[in-house]
Amino acid sequence: MSVICEEIPRSEIIEKAAYEGVKDFIFVRRKERPKDIKVAEKWSMEPCFLPSFYEEVAQRILDFEVRADDVWIVTYPKCGTTWTQELIWQICNNLNYDQSKSPLYERFPFLEIGSLLSRDWPNVDYVTRLEKAPSPRFIKSHLPAPLLPNGLWTVKPKIVYVARNVKDVAISWYHHHVNIHYFPGSFQDFMDTMIADKIMYSPFHSHIVDFWRMKDEQNILFSTFEDMKKDLPAVIRRTIKFFGNDYSEAQIQTLADHLSFAQLSKNPSVNLDHMLKGIQVAINKKMKDQNYHFIRKGETGSFKKEMTPELVERFNKWTESEMQKLNCEPELRNIFLLNES
Ligand code: A3P
Repeated sequence: MSVICEEIPRSEIIEKAAYEGVKDFIFVRRKERPKDIKVAEKWSMEPCFLPSFYEEVAQRILDFEVRADDVWIVTYPKCGTTWTQELIWQICNNLNYDQSKSPLYERFPFLEIGSLLSRDWPNVDYVTRLEKAPSPRFIKSHLPAPLLPNGLWTVKPKIVYVARNVKDVAISWYHHHVNIHYFPGSFQDFMDTMIADKIMYSPFHSHIVDFWRMKDEQNILFSTFEDMKKDLPAVIRRTIKFFGNDYSEAQIQTLADHLSFAQLSKNPSVNLDHMLKGIQVAINKKMKDQNYHFIRKGETGSFKKEMTPELVERFNKWTESEMQKLNCEPELRNIFLLNES
């Protein structure tokens, strides 16, 4: 076993992190920095906070067989994963808008989702499904670099990583937790867990730092939510180039329109409305905000409407201290605090 899963004793902050059917958490980390993986020199090796069910797949995921023609997306949750998945899928599938009527979560499965949710919920083991899936596979994961399959760093398939402003992520993650995971705590409780790095997939900063430091690898494209908001056609062009495709300006404009908030939020194959309804029926429990949608607001800087100046200050101090701890290059401040200057 090259992975260690350490049980976390219950405490006030751990109780705050609990959500529907999930009360126990573990710290997951590699036993040691792998010497045979060159890019591992750049990893911060921080243990990742995950529900205890993750122990079932931790080693299997490290050993997961990666193929050269796989396409991966990796993000900390709420950084624009779904938006970018649809962008990648279309670019890699000849802009086949007809074929993309099947759900995005089937076209581009979420590797570890089966180990995050209540055991009383309908769970799908995508690790096994993906092991058997024909190529080319499109795979989503929120895992930090050190917990991703070893093969990613040796076989080197294409990986797109997306980052987003930390406070917008926190707000988006809060609404996701309350409505999708039936998080019972208050807004303040959630923000406490985020800043304490005691929420699924945390720590936040090292997740981004590790990929930012690998961004010049040929098989990695480092992208941001804010760039997509600012100039979506430019991000589409950059992504097309990364995948070695060639599309006309007219096709790029049509894709930008397909990916616009207005279009994507009403696209049933992408917006997850159907899945959210399915969860409520399956567990016979209503979502707290019946007007919640996974594709929710899609704004940059929306934290300004929901965070008090004191909370903003706490997030800024936290980011500064994480930057020191991780010995961050100054450019990283612009990534964590995107669109604020
Ligand atoms: P908000 O909750 O801030 O609105 P992920 O897919 O990583 O979970 O990220 C979800 C976030 O991406 C949500 O942010 C969602 O609204 C936003 N998003 C999804 N599609 C978008 C689009 N076409 N334009 C802008 N934002 C989009």
